[in-house]
Amino acid sequence: MRRSLALVVVAALVCSTQGVPVKPPARAANRFPDGFHLGAATAAFQIEGAWNEDGKGESIWDHMLHAQPNLTKDSGNGDVAADSYHKYKEDVQLLVGLNANCYRFSLSWPRILPTGDTNVINQAGIDYYNNVINELLANGIEPMVTLYHWDLPQELQKLGGWPNIELADYFLEYARIAFENFGDRVQLWLTFNEPNMFCNGYSSATDFAPGANASGIADYMMAKTILLAHARVYRLYDQHFRFKQRGKVGITLDGAWYEPLTNSKEDADASERQLQFEVGLWANPIFSSQGNFPKVVRQRVAANSKKEGRARSRLPTLSPSEIHLIKGTADFFGLNHYFSSFITSGSSGQEPSKLHDAGVVTSTIPGYPTAYWITDVPWGLRKLLNWVHDTYPGYPIFVTENGWADPPGVLNDTGRIHYLRGYVSAILRAINEDGVPMIGYTSWSLIDNLEWMDGYTMKFGLYSVDYDDPERPRTPKASVAVLADIYKNKAVPWKDFENANTTPPS
Ligand code: BGC
Repeated sequence: MRRSLALVVVAALVCSTQGVPVKPPARAANRFPDGFHLGAATAAFQIEGAWNEDGKGESIWDHMLHAQPNLTKDSGNGDVAADSYHKYKEDVQLLVGLNANCYRFSLSWPRILPTGDTNVINQAGIDYYNNVINELLANGIEPMVTLYHWDLPQELQKLGGWPNIELADYFLEYARIAFENFGDRVQLWLTFNEPNMFCNGYSSATDFAPGANASGIADYMMAKTILLAHARVYRLYDQHFRFKQRGKVGITLDGAWYEPLTNSKEDADASERQLQFEVGLWANPIFSSQGNFPKVVRQRVAANSKKEGRARSRLPTLSPSEIHLIKGTADFFGLNHYFSSFITSGSSGQEPSKLHDAGVVTSTIPGYPTAYWITDVPWGLRKLLNWVHDTYPGYPIFVTENGWADPPGVLNDTGRIHYLRGYVSAILRAINEDGVPMIGYTSWSLIDNLEWMDGYTMKFGLYSVDYDDPERPRTPKASVAVLADIYKNKAVPWKDFENANTTPPS
């Protein structure tokens, strides 16, 4: 980690009234740079509801949770969710109450294209997102739009879903419609949210839609489709939209931090290997100078495939022209981060699976606050930001998700307050002390929502939503005032900043 960098100084030299150049004061370590995006994030399926209203088509999540309601912990589904489809104006006011200058949300592909294809364009869906975007802008909040946050049109699942390479074409046409309709006002685009997570839908029958169980095979096949789809959308934007819309296009990848269990080289290698399987599988083709899937991933999947008696690797090949097409297709690096764990070399995960191919064993880092699968280790994010910057230099990083979960009913959310103070401070240290280039932070999540397989039992919202009330009233949790203060002052209060756990114990 580069700790030696002096505090970053504000922009360029300015002139005094006498015309003598004077240096502006150095920015304090607890302050964000000018123009930094600060806000909150959500996703269409998790908040909108109105699952079949105004011409919306069925998504793979609608389909799976209707067919097998018991898959979620509380049999919850997305039919009504937080009803943001009808309550978006109220939700924009929640962002105002948070002093947010940015809101990350996703478009529901089947709300815009009910069949997934351009044969039916649902104007009501386009109107809805226009309303959301206009309401945000009228309140001084910049929209950041994710094109795909996991709700594939069910009609495209009938074609096999993401492992079918043809889906890249469908995604391209959907993105074109989004750029055409919203790109005059949207400057921040993300193609995909966390492919490494939604590929679970192709490696397990019960964990994520569509529940297609082909572990270690389909989840690698879809990587090729996703990377080509992402790259083609980026190139489409470059060729047809960038000159007039002047926005930025990125992708959001999820990464935990894997702290080597011991000082051994073996454990350091295990950490790097896991990061390459989790982040590098998607990032290396886009953000590295050589492109392609990471070497360690190619070698290990090929070796295991051979051992299993297969004729070829379970990991698809990218041709030289595909490598070239994908390389460099991002204006920034979107990163979602929630937790850290210890890691050591070993064997875990079913055979075949990505985890088994990685050859690692993880364990909880003791001594830190935990909730569900989250461990509150702020220095882990600082290390991960440094790793991303060192591994893929030249790309500004936007932390597009980061947050804490409570069980239902917690309004005095002291766990979330501790977590947010720590993680926002870790970001500030990465920027101001380590020299990591960063452009934004959107906390997960604006409101309590459908937490995928956990249904409504796990609450990530800054604002609580009462799911027993058909009106779905929103109430600020205690963390809203804390984050609103940070967002207003563009700084973490000095005492909280100093107390945050941003440096690993030696
Ligand atoms: C996803 C969100 C999810 C959050 C908490 C991320 O993996 O993008 O949709 O709710 O983490 O699990």
